[in-house]
Parts: sequence; C-alpha cells; structure tokens
Amino acid sequence: MSDREIIRPVREKEGTNVTFSPAVLEKIEKIKGRYPAGREKSALLPILHIAQEELGGYLSVDVMDYVASLLHIQPIEVYEVATFYTQYYLDPVGRHVIEVCRTGPCAICGGERISAYLAKKLNINPGETTSDGLFTLKEVECLGACGSAPVMQVNTQFYEFLTEEKIDQILEELRAQGNEDKPEKSKWIEKFF
Ligand code: FES
Repeated sequence: MSDREIIRPVREKEGTNVTFSPAVLEKIEKIKGRYPAGREKSALLPILHIAQEELGGYLSVDVMDYVASLLHIQPIEVYEVATFYTQYYLDPVGRHVIEVCRTGPCAICGGERISAYLAKKLNINPGETTSDGLFTLKEVECLGACGSAPVMQVNTQFYEFLTEEKIDQILEELRAQGNEDKPEKSKWIEKFF
C-alpha cells in the first residue's frame, strides 16, 4: 500500500513556532494578492511548496496549521491537499527526492525495472531514505510526460527516456552535489515571481 492510498495520520504537534521570515512573508502576500478577496485558498498550492522548502523540508502539522492561518482557512483544507499530491512531503525526506513514475505507459516502457534498479543502487525500498540523508525514493503516479517514458522527477527536475546507464550518471551527478543548498534561482520562492 502506498503512502497515498491511506489517509495519513498527521503528526503530533511538535510545539515548534513556525513562521516565515519577513522577506518570505512579503512574497506570500504578493501571491495571495493575485486572487480576489475571500479566495485566498487559491494560493494554497504555491504557498505549500514555499512552506515545504523554507520551513524544514516537509509539511509538519505545525507548518500546515501555519499555512491555514495565513490563508484564513481551516487546517483540514490544507491537510486534504497536502495528503493528495505526492509533491508534498508529510515526513522528513532526503536532499534529493527521486519520484519514479509507476503508471501504465512508464511501466510498459521499463519503469518498474528502473525503480528496481534505483532501489538496488541506493539500497533502499520505495518510501525510504538513504542513511546519509541524500536520497529518498518514491514511486508515484503519472508525471505527465508519458511520451518520454520511462520518467522520473528529482526535486523539480525531470529525467526522461531513462535507462540504467542514465540512472548511473544522474546518481553520480547528484552525489557530487552532496548536501549543498539548492541554488537560489531554483528555489520555489523564486519560481513564482
Ligand atoms: S505514465 Fe509515466 S509520465 Fe505518464
């Protein structure tokens, strides 16, 4: 059973005080301002991406509650969105989140083999993170690039027409990056402006 096939219990409150920096809050207000008054919920998806990136790498209950308060909506409205999309993480993840498509077209074109190869190379199962915290492996549904199957997404980057040789090369490049921070220009906060 995948982690999306059940309603995930939200984590216990951790008692942390989460808040965006003033600079990020300013940008959040600009995103909210793109929608009519009373429709702040329309800004939920981009703000969740930013929250995930800026507030610890995953959406804890405290972070989701904070987002709900910013948008003047109920926490459950945030939980139901965050638990639906695989791009939102409800638990801590590695520096590089590898999402391999397991839907029909990719599966027919070798997606299952690619996923098994990644699991073997990383020595983890789908849903797990490597002990060095560098990689999390996930199997997800259609990534919308079926014509380039088999496909995977690593963080915000797509990789298409995958082969075992390509996987070796991609892992090598990602390992070389280590745990260094994302470049500013590839952060979600920059993508929305
Ligand atoms: S089936 Fe894999 S991207 Fe659509």
